[in-house]
Amino acid sequence: MWTDIAERGAAARDRSMTELLQSGNRASEFSVTIGDFLFDYSKTQMSEEDREALLDLARKSDVAARRDAMFEGGRINETEDRAVLHTALRNLSGASVYVDGSDVMPGVMETLTRMEGFAEAVRDGSFAGAGGAFTDVVNIGIGGSDLGPVMAHAALAPYCDGPRVHFVSNVDGAHIHDTLAGLDPATTLVIVASKTFTTIETMTNAETARRWMAEKVDDPAAQFAALSTAADHTAEFGIAPDRVFGFADWVGGRYSVWGPIGLSLMIAIGPDDFRDFLSGGHEMDMHFCGAPFRDNMPVMLALVGIWHNQGQGHATRAVLPYAQRLLRLPAYLQQLEMESNGKRVSMDGGDLPVHSGPVVWGEPGTNGQHAFYQLIHQGTRVVPCEFIVAARGHEPDLAHHHQLLVANCLAQSEALMRGRSLDEAREIMRAKGLEGDELERQARHRVFPGNRPSTTLMVPQLTPHVLGQIVALYEHRVFVEGVILGINSFDQWGVELGKELAQSLEPVLSGEADASDKDASTRALVDYVQRHR
Ligand code: F6P
Repeated sequence: MWTDIAERGAAARDRSMTELLQSGNRASEFSVTIGDFLFDYSKTQMSEEDREALLDLARKSDVAARRDAMFEGGRINETEDRAVLHTALRNLSGASVYVDGSDVMPGVMETLTRMEGFAEAVRDGSFAGAGGAFTDVVNIGIGGSDLGPVMAHAALAPYCDGPRVHFVSNVDGAHIHDTLAGLDPATTLVIVASKTFTTIETMTNAETARRWMAEKVDDPAAQFAALSTAADHTAEFGIAPDRVFGFADWVGGRYSVWGPIGLSLMIAIGPDDFRDFLSGGHEMDMHFCGAPFRDNMPVMLALVGIWHNQGQGHATRAVLPYAQRLLRLPAYLQQLEMESNGKRVSMDGGDLPVHSGPVVWGEPGTNGQHAFYQLIHQGTRVVPCEFIVAARGHEPDLAHHHQLLVANCLAQSEALMRGRSLDEAREIMRAKGLEGDELERQARHRVFPGNRPSTTLMVPQLTPHVLGQIVALYEHRVFVEGVILGINSFDQWGVELGKELAQSLEPVLSGEADASDKDASTRALVDYVQRHR
C-alpha cells in the first residue's frame, strides 16, 4: 500500500502542473468547498488516479470507523486510555455524546454557561478587582493551554472589545516581567490555564504573578481564576471553586481552546463571538462526519499532506497565512501537527513503516517573501506550501492594502508553479545588454525551476466563525493523517524525557547536586553557567 503511494509520488515528480491545469476542469475538480470556504489543491502533481489511490488508502485505513469512534466517545487515545471529545465542546446542537454510558453534554453546556456568566461579569465590571473593573487579563499557560487562545486572540483582534488580554507562557522570567510591567495589580485578573495544574513553567509563573499581586492587593487569590482538570490542585493553590472552570481528561491540551482554556479569548471577544467560533468548528465537524471522502475537506487536506510527505518525500510543510492576524497560526499548527503526528511507533507498538508527520513551519505573507521564500523558489528541496487568505479584510479604508496582499498570495502560488525557464532568463539578461558567457552565467541565477506544489485555503473574511472552521479543519486533517499512518495522534510521550532531565539539572545548576552522572558536554555547559551567572 505504501509502496504504491511512494511509486506514484516518484512517478509524478516530472509531471507538469501547468499542463495538468490545461486539461478539463482541474481547478474545480481538485478543490473542495463548504459554502464560501474553499480549499484548492489543483496546483499539485496529483493525478486523478493518484487521488483514487489515496482515497483508497483512506478507506482501507478505516478513517470512517475511527472518526465515528472519536465522535461517539470511544477510547481511541489508547496509550492513555482516554476518549477524544474536544468536538463535544463545540457541539452546539447539544445532542447527547456518551462516554462510558453517561452523556457529557449537560456538563459541557453547564460549564459553557458558567464561562459566559463569568466573562460577562469581567467585561461589564460586575466582577472587579480591588481597584475596580478589570482593565487587563493575564492568561498564564503553555503549549495547548496558551497557543490556542494566543493564536485566536490575535486572529480576532477586530472583535476584541473587552479588557486587554495578555499571555505568559515561557518560564523565562523575561516573559512575565515584561508582561506585568505597566499593569496595575488592582485591576488585573490572572487566569491560570493548565490541564494538569502541575506544569512547571505555568506554576512558576502563577506563583510569581501571585507575589506581584500580593504587593498591592490584600486578597490576591480573589483575582485569580483557574482552568484545569485538577480541582484538587487548583484548591491547593487557593482558587475558590466558583472561579475554577473544569474539563474532563477527554479534552487533549492542544485541542482545548474550545472549552475553558478559551476563557481569556471569550473575555476578549465576548460570549456571542465565542459561540460563533464554536459554531464554525461544529460546522466543520458536521461536514467531516457527513461528506463523502472526495468532497470532504479535512480528508482531502490530509491526503494532500500524505501525498507530499510520504508519497513525494517532502519532509516539511510551510503554512503561509496571508493575514497578519494569523501570525501565531504556524506556531499553533506546529503543536497541533507535530505533537500529534511526530511519532515513530504505530498504534500496535510496531515501527512506523513510513516517515511520521512533516516538519511544519511558516510565517505570514508578505513578510516571509522577504525572508525565506528564496529557498522555497530556488532551493534544492521542494517545500509544499499552504497558503491561507481572506477575500476581504476588516479595514474598508485600507482595501488597497488588502488587494495587494491577495495579489501577492496568488502571485506566489503562480510563481511556484510556473517558474522561469533558462530561455526566459536569457531573454531578460539580453534585454539588459548582457551577452556571451556573462549572459549565460547571470541567466542561470535567475532560473526558477517551478512545478512546486501549493494549496490555497480561501475564506471570505477572518471572522470568529471562519476561524473556528479553519482550526477544526486542521484538527481533523491531523486526525486523518494520524489514522492513515497508524499513529495515536492524542498522546505526547515525546515531551517527557526533557522534562525529567530538566528536573534533575536544576539542583545541579544551583550546586545542590553534583554533575558526576552527567556526560562531559553537559558538565562543561553547567560549569560555564556557574562561572558566568
Ligand atoms: O508539552 C506537553 C504538554 O503536555 C502539552 O501537550 C500541553 O498542552 C502542555 O504541556 C501544557 O500542559 P498543561 O495544560 O497540563 O499545563
